[in-house]
Amino acid sequence: MHNQILLLHGPNLNLLGTREPEIYGRFTLVDINQIVTKAAAVYGVSVKAYQSNHEGALIDALHEARTNVDGVVFNPGAYTHTSIALRDAISAVKIPVVEVHLSNIHARESFRQTSMLSAVCIGQVVGFGWRSYVLGLNALLGALGTLAEPILE
Ligand code: DQA
Repeated sequence: MHNQILLLHGPNLNLLGTREPEIYGRFTLVDINQIVTKAAAVYGVSVKAYQSNHEGALIDALHEARTNVDGVVFNPGAYTHTSIALRDAISAVKIPVVEVHLSNIHARESFRQTSMLSAVCIGQVVGFGWRSYVLGLNALLGALGTLAEPILE
């Protein structure tokens, strides 16, 4: 265990805060990285955050993730709907990846309703704005066994 996760952001997410705030919210990418970093710290997990507008750079980041993190919370932006290369990278690295989206892609234009990636991710969180990332982190840490199991009466 590295006790480290990668928070990976795809194209146009560097513009968060100013980009269509009615859809994506008012928090910037720096804010979201800080929110997730603080939430992970509670569990003793550190966060490496990286954003790129380039498909190949995202693929390189996934390849590198194999060696130094336990899992990935990934908002692939519009590459979600198009990228077989990112799908192959996720399959290849064999570490758990949670797909997250700020908006509910299933309630938007038809071209956003398909994800090339969800079948190779351990799950998908959509539609909760910045909270999608926190929920995605929680799901990833649960899958990694970092969170305590509930104790039943
Ligand atoms: C997004 C949804 C995508 O369809 C879009 O291209 C984005 C952001 C989201 O977080 O809601 O860039 O991934």
